[in-house]
Formats: sequence, C-alpha cells, structure tokens
Amino acid sequence: MELKGKTALVTGAAGGIGAAVVRALRAKGARVAVADRDVTGIEAEAHLPGDLRDPAYADGLPAAAVAALGRLDIVVNNAGVITRGKVTDTSDADWDLSLGVNVEAPFRICRAAIPLMAETGGGAIVNVASCWGLRPGPNHAVYCMTKAAIASLTQCMGMDHAHQGIRINAVAPNEVNTPMLRTGFAKRGFDPDSAVAELGKTVPLGRIAEPEDIADVILFLASDAARYMCGAVVEVNGGKAVG
Ligand SMILES: NC(=O)c1ccc[n+]([C@@H]2O[C@H](COP(=O)([O-])OP(=O)(O)OC[C@H]3O[C@@H](n4cnc5c(N)ncnc54)[C@H](O)[C@@H]3O)[C@@H](O)[C@H]2O)c1
Repeated sequence: MELKGKTALVTGAAGGIGAAVVRALRAKGARVAVADRDVTGIEAEAHLPGDLRDPAYADGLPAAAVAALGRLDIVVNNAGVITRGKVTDTSDADWDLSLGVNVEAPFRICRAAIPLMAETGGGAIVNVASCWGLRPGPNHAVYCMTKAAIASLTQCMGMDHAHQGIRINAVAPNEVNTPMLRTGFAKRGFDPDSAVAELGKTVPLGRIAEPEDIADVILFLASDAARYMCGAVVEVNGGKAVG
C-alpha cells in the first residue's frame, strides 16, 4: 500500500477518524491537504480550512488541493455530523446541517474532483458512510438517511466513473471511539470512558473501533491493493452488524 508520489485531500481532518487517515496516508508517503473548520496544528503538506456548508468552499476544495500539491490522486470525504432524534424531533436547522455536511458537501467535492482526477489518469475516492446507513438504528432518523444517501451515491459513482480510472468506494463503520461518539455520551450524562468500555462488550471482537481501525481500511481502499474495487460499501464493524 505504498503511496509515494500520490497526493490526497482529507475532509474532517481534525476529527477522530480524519486525523488517523491523515497519519496513515502520510506514513505511506502521500502528500496530504487537510480540510476542516480549524486545521491549526495538523501536520500536513497543505492546509485548506473552511466550512463545508459553504458551497463555494466545497466546490473549490479539489482545485485548491491541486493548486497546493500539483495533482490530486485520493479524496477522503470523511467530515460528518450526527444529529439525534426521530423525524418529529428534527428541526429545519438539523435537517440543513445533516444534509449539508454529510451529503451535499461530498457530492460537491466528488463532482469537482472527478474531472480533475480523470485529467491525470484517475484516482480513488473514499467516502465515510456508516453501518446505520445500511440498516438504521433507532432515534437518529436523519443521520441514518444521510449515511444511506452517501452509500447509494458511492455505489452510483463507483459504477459511473470506473471507466475514467476513478475508483469510488465507502467504508461503513459501526461505533468508533472518536469525539463524535464521546461527546454524544457526555451530552446524555454518561462518562465517556465507561460508556465506551460498556459498548465494547456488545461487539463480538470485544471492543469498539479505534480511529486507526477505520483509517487502515480507508488506506486500503485508496491504494492500488483495492484496484478492482468500485462502488463497494465496506462494513468495518468488529463483527457487530446493526439490526
Ligand atoms: N464515531 C463513530 O462512531 C462513527 C460511526 C460511523 C460513521 N462515522 C462517520 O465517520 C466520519 C468521521 O467522524 P468522527 O467520528 O471522526 O467524528 P469527529 O466529530 O471526530 O470528526 C468529524 C470532523 O468533521 C468536521 N466537520 C463537521 N462539520 C464540518 C463543516 N461544516 N465544515 C468542515 N468540517 C466539518 C468536524 O470539525 C470534525 O473535525 C463521519 O462522517 C461520521 O459520520 C463515525
């Protein structure tokens, strides 16, 4: 999975999984452009801060990565937000945020990146979906729907752009020990460490995922080791399927 000479754009690079993806790509020799609202202090070859809900920023990210790194071989659409509740608990703001970050931004980034990658002979895009996009869990209706949407978009794009040498796949993690999960526990009044330990007991492998467990699968999908994979949604769940 050597990536010397390759360049990558990673969104949500300041978050749990994103930071692990950036480390994994750079450890294999890739030069990486990091995108997040705040990218201060992240070790990378280019820093592209901004808000993915700004359409002009999302549309422009792939070109900005090319401008900074010379070309674009790998895109990891990892940024995401989780809103909780049933449809009847979902505000317009939750709807706009969830769709904006989890679906519209990856759509805009893929739409802009595909022609740029095609010009230089192809590349790989990895989107971060969720097990809950494949089989929904309770009380997170809009989050589950956004993850189903990105999984479906991945399958469509994987088919439609394979002929350009662009492989588009997704990972679908179950629970991962990141700020997204931990702040959720904290908000509901649980101690994150003991809640993570308890949750680990429900996973056949005996623990929930660490960000590196997901990053390594993303690395594989981004690398030539996955050269025949297009439009796959790969579950990474320690044996714990939803539903
Ligand atoms: N943690 C889990 O249990 C879990 C499970 C399945 C899927 N996922 C998915 O994995 C991905 C990464 O999540 P994580 O757990 O590392 O979460 P995280 O909260 O640690 O990281 C998410 C990152 O996305 C960034 N982001 C959010 N909104 C943004 C915006 N408008 N503009 C720019 N950046 C923005 C955040 O700043 C943050 O750094 C998400 O797509 C999430 O849905 C997580």
